[in-house]
Amino acid sequence: MSLFKQSMLALAAGGLAAGLLAFAEPGFRAADAATEPMASATRLQPVSAFAKVKNKNERAVALFQEAGKVIQSPRCMNCHPATERPTQTDKMRPHIPLVVRGDGGVGAAGGLACSTCHHEANFDAAGVPGNPKWALAPVEMAWQGKTLGQICVQIKDKQRNGGKDMAALIKHMAEDELVGWGWHPGGSRTPAPGTQKQFGELIKAWADAGAACPKG
Ligand code: HEC
Ligand code: HEC
Repeated sequence: MSLFKQSMLALAAGGLAAGLLAFAEPGFRAADAATEPMASATRLQPVSAFAKVKNKNERAVALFQEAGKVIQSPRCMNCHPATERPTQTDKMRPHIPLVVRGDGGVGAAGGLACSTCHHEANFDAAGVPGNPKWALAPVEMAWQGKTLGQICVQIKDKQRNGGKDMAALIKHMAEDELVGWGWHPGGSRTPAPGTQKQFGELIKAWADAGAACPKG
């Protein structure tokens, strides 16, 4: 059997499980299915809009809060979960079927590998997002359940950000192709607000203003 067929069978099984599990999920409310995706910003303010904030630290905080509209969007949060399991959709539900991080974020040995279903590009016919670098972020990069201030401190911390200095962090935000997927997520997923270029500019301006973090 081809890998493609196997993937599609796995998906079909996943879909069935999704139907059953959705109702078993403790937090599930039938009304969820009918409600619109969570309201979220679709645009980002340009860096120039922050020039009026004269105090450097206050400007840095305001810039990071604007960039936070991207960071805290479901497109990023779904892959930076607090547990071993990704979340999915605009509602950030637990990933169906159950998959876990495993070594390197690509699935547990003996379990389902991400690449069984997630391929090099989005596959809209089956609603499966894809990217060559598809993997779950390491647990020290978990963002779910944290405030924007906590996420800010964490992403500056080389012990927890994959050893990135500020230049590498800016480059990652502005140019990384997996980050870039957030603006081209395929299917009915809401793209991250603004553009990756604007997001990169906000992060760079935040760094240039001293990279202060929001309190709390
Ligand atoms: C498919 C999963 C996935 C998605 C979607 C994703 N990330 Fe990540 N992210 C990762 C992985 C894996 C790493 C670790 C590998 C690396 O650093 O390249 C990571 C690392 C990072 C890092 C570096 C370290 C840190 O402090 O967390 C940043 C910054 C980041 N991601 C930002 C984003 C942003 C912004 C988005 C949304 C626009 C996003 N990511 C969406 C998987 C993902
Ligand atoms: C059996 C197939 C299958 C496997 C294996 C699988 N996924 Fe998925 N995944 C899907 C499907 C299908 C969706 C789309 C669900 C939807 O949007 O309703 C999805 C969605 C996601 C999303 C949500 C994207 C978004 O923002 O809405 C993330 C994150 C994700 N998967 C990460 C992973 C990771 C990481 C792995 C490996 C550890 C993995 N998946 C393994 C089928 C799979």
